[in-house]
Amino acid sequence: MESLLKEGRVFDPPAAFRAQANVGADLYDEAAKDRLAYWGRQAEQLDWFRKWDRVLEWNPPFAQWFVGGKLNACYNCVDRHAAGGRADKPAIIWEGEPGDSATLTYADLLREVTRFAAVLKQLGVNQGDRVAIYMPIIPQTVVAMLACARIGAAHSVVFAGFSPEALAFRINDSGAKVLITADGYWRRGQLLSTKQNANVAVESCPSIETVLVVQRAGNDVAEGWVDGRDRWYHEEALSATGDVPCAELDAEDPLYVLYTSGSTGKPKGALHTIGGYLTHVASTHRAVFDTKESDVFWCTADIAWTTAHSYVVYGPLANGTTIFLYEGAPETPHRGRWWELIAKYRINVLYTAPTAIRTFMKWGAVEPAEFDLTSLRLLGSVGEPINPEAWIWYQTHIGGGRCPIVDTWWQTETGGMMVAPLPGVTPTKPGSATRPLPGIDVAVVDEDGNPVTRGGGYLVVKSPWPGMLRTVWGDDQRYASTYFSKFGPETYFAGDGARLDEDGYLWFLGRVDDVVNVSGHRIGTTEVESALVGHPAVAEAAVIGREHEVKGQAITAFVVLREGNEPSAALEKELKAHVTREIGGLARPEEVRFAPELPKNRAGKILRRLLRDIAEGRELGDTTTLIDPTVVAVLQSHK
Ligand code: WTA
Repeated sequence: MESLLKEGRVFDPPAAFRAQANVGADLYDEAAKDRLAYWGRQAEQLDWFRKWDRVLEWNPPFAQWFVGGKLNACYNCVDRHAAGGRADKPAIIWEGEPGDSATLTYADLLREVTRFAAVLKQLGVNQGDRVAIYMPIIPQTVVAMLACARIGAAHSVVFAGFSPEALAFRINDSGAKVLITADGYWRRGQLLSTKQNANVAVESCPSIETVLVVQRAGNDVAEGWVDGRDRWYHEEALSATGDVPCAELDAEDPLYVLYTSGSTGKPKGALHTIGGYLTHVASTHRAVFDTKESDVFWCTADIAWTTAHSYVVYGPLANGTTIFLYEGAPETPHRGRWWELIAKYRINVLYTAPTAIRTFMKWGAVEPAEFDLTSLRLLGSVGEPINPEAWIWYQTHIGGGRCPIVDTWWQTETGGMMVAPLPGVTPTKPGSATRPLPGIDVAVVDEDGNPVTRGGGYLVVKSPWPGMLRTVWGDDQRYASTYFSKFGPETYFAGDGARLDEDGYLWFLGRVDDVVNVSGHRIGTTEVESALVGHPAVAEAAVIGREHEVKGQAITAFVVLREGNEPSAALEKELKAHVTREIGGLARPEEVRFAPELPKNRAGKILRRLLRDIAEGRELGDTTTLIDPTVVAVLQSHK
């Protein structure tokens, strides 16, 4: 963190870029003058069946945007482009890990989405239902999402790397009727079966009527196939014919539910609704990525994450952009794969996470130099704070010194970007996400909620914004208490620490709650702890994130064993595997430390800060609040 605060370099937008940029500095002024009018003008860029009566209705902490408006997200992302001169323009260019590829024009996409929507209808999916999607990165995943949007069913996409248990939780919480999955997919040269995990999950999901299987890998899925419940998509598509028009939906109808980890309890389903969300993601995609008609846009996030919902699917497609998708891992079959793809498909804009950049940095500058990256004109970063070293490396070795870098801060809950530079306008500082975007009312406050004009504090949003989550699925109370209680019902508490510098630039400092950010993925420490204590050998567990050179943070688990169990390398391995089984590989602890006891204060609360100090090998601060200060010395000696 220290190096962030000392960073003093400033980069003005390159003159050539500035000259052709979509938006100018007047956008900030325009939005500052009248925020709601600004968002109204952004919403007018979409096609509406019926215009809204009011831009905003705010009953803190509940917001409604574009009240009375009617629209359809699929219509805006597909139909209007297919009908309006982009029929033959590629909408999706995809490459599989083994090197197979596909291109869908907007006309193709319309045909595929309509067919998929017809299959969903045939399976009894109606407006207002939920559909779970557990898929790899293939065009049909995007098609399935848009098909849901077309008929007014909310999708809930679950990362294919999540365990059956994690999938089942999300299905049950959302009450999904249909689960869409694939037979399998390729990752690091291995064929992974999504269907097998789906089989295990749906055993405990009474709401699931159908498992719809898209063929991707051609692997054998006979094992565990249940006739009646399981259906091949391509077989269903034969009988599902006819046009499926876009449903005329309310601006505040659900578009999707996306689960994310918080500091307490089980993951929360962030509910996003159609009108405000689509307005937010389309307008930020246009302004922050300076989107051009000829762009090929590559956001490398998995479709299951918020980043891809907003900037693979809804933002870019609403703008009629060509998106690129890659199924596999960056090092398969070689460490230059991404650069090879950029050269091959002449990709213009790359949007990725600092953890990826740091991995490439570690691999060295030789690989990217072997490929022609001159098609790139703009680079984006998201998901975690980017350290200045990685920022500069990205700018130099990937951007060839000519591409502006947009570091974009936002969250699953915010729906779209909140803090980011406008690339033709805002000078950038390596490591700072710069300023709030036009129309976004962000502040840094102290413990009492008073604004900080310079220095560190909590990041808050002081006014509602169109892309904000509307609630936690099925739990308004949890929505209010998680996000709108620390500083009152009008102020959104983001859970991030941030610092304002002398120019009013924001420097994000990571989470202030018990959320760990591993390679840009949010993991709730309580989720990992409850997985660990579910193991018969474990009595107590405390999980913390410690700094990690490549991943940003890595998980360290302190574990107290039950009587009769002894610490061993085998048990450490077993506990790591247990967490992978329970949640998924991304929650797997990097290290497990066996402890005779956990450091607690007199109220019985585990002192995580101390554990973090121990894991990072730091001098320990005040330990006098501990019930038993000697515990710490014992923990330090237990490596
Ligand atoms: C972190 C990802 C610093 C932050 C879009 C936030 C960032 C969490 C940045 C949300 C950034 C995201 N700089 N930190 N540019 N972008 N974060 O919901 O801690 O997966 O609260 O959304 O990631 O993660 P989520």
